[in-house]
Amino acid sequence: MVEKNKELLPFNTFGLSARAEHFSVVRNQTELKAAIGTQLRPIRVLGGGSNILFTRDVEGLLLKNEIKGIEILRKWKNKAHIKVGGGETWHTFVLWAVANGYGGVENLSLIPGSVGASPVQNIGAYGVEIKDVFVRLYATDLETGKERVFSRKECRFGYRDSIFKHEAKGKYLITAVVYSLTTQKHHLNISYGDISKTLETMQVSHPDIASVSQAVIQIRSSKLPDPAQIGNCGSFFKNPETTTVVLEQMRKTHPNAPAYPLDNGHVKVPAGWLIEQCGWKGKRVGNTGSYEKQALVLVNYGGAQGDEVRQLAHDIIESVRVQFGIALEPEVNIW
Ligand code: EPU
Repeated sequence: MVEKNKELLPFNTFGLSARAEHFSVVRNQTELKAAIGTQLRPIRVLGGGSNILFTRDVEGLLLKNEIKGIEILRKWKNKAHIKVGGGETWHTFVLWAVANGYGGVENLSLIPGSVGASPVQNIGAYGVEIKDVFVRLYATDLETGKERVFSRKECRFGYRDSIFKHEAKGKYLITAVVYSLTTQKHHLNISYGDISKTLETMQVSHPDIASVSQAVIQIRSSKLPDPAQIGNCGSFFKNPETTTVVLEQMRKTHPNAPAYPLDNGHVKVPAGWLIEQCGWKGKRVGNTGSYEKQALVLVNYGGAQGDEVRQLAHDIIESVRVQFGIALEPEVNIW
């Protein structure tokens, strides 16, 4: 069913008001093909609405991906290939995996959004990225309705990046993703960030996938605002890559500037740190602001317009550029 002039406030975690000219929920291939067959254009796709900033109404047809289902395709040795509907909520899938003893996604607990969106920006947290467990995905061409498969290589994953942010941008609806998870001898990744410290405070001496998931949930809940309480889209910017020369320059005035070395000889500097140094952390501008516990997260205190958030993002980018000569790039999609 195609609805007209649909209010999108309940469909984005920033809690912004915008309208879709036409809107349709798709639960399966038949509904998807029917929606494409309407010839309403352009077609755009909405997943969990957790990485999107609406700055205007959406023209054409907006499809809400609600294609569900979790299917174990095969199990062998200590592995299982699991096919998950693109419209499943990511965290619901993680909880299912942990409860059923499948390892590999526990570090990605509580990341908002849908399974279909997970490969688009190669979601990542605490030393794990989706590309580490990704096998292939199934997508439907929004122009022709034809289905195709993308292998891991074809997805061209990078840091918060994939082909779906470049050549394939806006062209497909991701109907299902196949992940490779472990059934035993799980490889726990607890060296990153505060995970081991949190496991200690939880008095866990022999961590397993369930306790790692709980630790991640605890860390994220303590630092990141719950969209049900304060509208937000998680990290608003990517952590920028820069050269060691720029870092050395920066450390003359900020000797404790944090940085993580990359394989290509460059370094990544936490955007949250740069934003905090520029005095934005916890600062409120009208109905929006930078979150008090994590400067990288922009929030809607209630009633903000998309343009206000975009202006704040612009001002933050400008002050980081002036103070550090580093260009921040949004991670969130701005529509
Ligand atoms: N920092 C500050 N001030 C702040 C925030 C951070 O100084 O207000 C500095 C600290 O030095 C801290 C460092 O930044 O040690 C890193 O902070 P954090 O561990 O919170 O991680 P992040 O680099 O800010 C990234 C991801 C998050 C992910 C965490 C944990 C990006 C853009 N963000 O944030 O992902 O949860 O690592 O792995 O890469 C998301 O994408 O929406 C997201 C939340």
